[in-house]
Amino acid sequence: MSNDYAKQNIATRAIHAGQEPDPTTGAVVPPIYMSSTFKQDGVGGLRGGYEYSRSTNPTRDAFDEQLAGVEGAKHSISFASGLAAIDVLLRSFLKPGDNILLGNDVYGGTYRLLSKVFGPWGVGLDVVDVTDIAAVTERLAAKRYAVVWVETPSNPLLRITDIQAVVKAAHQHGGAKVVVDNTFASPALQHPLDDGADVVVYSTTKYIGGHSDVVGGAVLLNDDDLHEQVAFLQNAAGAVPSPFDSWLAIRGLKTLELRVKRHSENALALAEHLEQRPEIERVWYPGLESHPGHDIAKRQMHGGFGGVV
Ligand SMILES: Cc1ncc(COP(=O)(O)O)c(C=O)c1O
Repeated sequence: MSNDYAKQNIATRAIHAGQEPDPTTGAVVPPIYMSSTFKQDGVGGLRGGYEYSRSTNPTRDAFDEQLAGVEGAKHSISFASGLAAIDVLLRSFLKPGDNILLGNDVYGGTYRLLSKVFGPWGVGLDVVDVTDIAAVTERLAAKRYAVVWVETPSNPLLRITDIQAVVKAAHQHGGAKVVVDNTFASPALQHPLDDGADVVVYSTTKYIGGHSDVVGGAVLLNDDDLHEQVAFLQNAAGAVPSPFDSWLAIRGLKTLELRVKRHSENALALAEHLEQRPEIERVWYPGLESHPGHDIAKRQMHGGFGGVV
């Protein structure tokens, strides 16, 4: 669906993708369809495929299509939170006995989920400095991993991982899926699927929602089979965003590009200023030449380095 938008720039896609006027009223903004259940015209006579809002909801679909369009992904599935997205994505294809190779600087909640919930369930977890491609390759050669988990820029230390290099190593050694948590870059700055990653995840609570008023998450991918599996488990387990959450996310995403550009300009100016201050020992910002991942970030990120210093 979204690949139709590939020739438009991101700001244009954000206001058009999934934002067709409402078919019954012509409303130019997707309505908040606060309905749990949809009337059927006889048994199996679904109107537009809608039946029950845990399975699908038109406002949620509008956000999914919008985000897929902005990302340039074939599929987007939105969730009630970023962690719900991560949980359902991983449980949709992992089983006890599988192993995850995790970057050593990731959001603490991701580490908690993997170590304290997936670990006792029987999924192995190894932690590596994922910015060190030789170390990643060595791990991949020594053990079979189902997933390599990359967060770049990472939270909190803003470490930069070369996505293409990790993908190359993972796909050469046993075909581990490379998942990139793109929350700190957002689709305004970085497109891991174009760099070969298998899946992108977001906490849409951050730049995508953009106004500190909604918690949400999303999984983006091109693989039809994996999309089916994730959609199945979401419906089976139920971690869906409400229609109002979806509407807020739609509104936030429309201005993503403008906001992230300004965040990036402000953050770079601040980082450059702080770096000159004698009382400050070290400034971590990927836009600074002193940052160890600056050259990779310059190639991999487009139009800025994000708003976190
Ligand atoms: C990089 C990253 N990934 C995932 C999450 C989890 O998202 P949520 O808080 O929406 O569950 C966060 C939250 O801070 C995050 O910073």
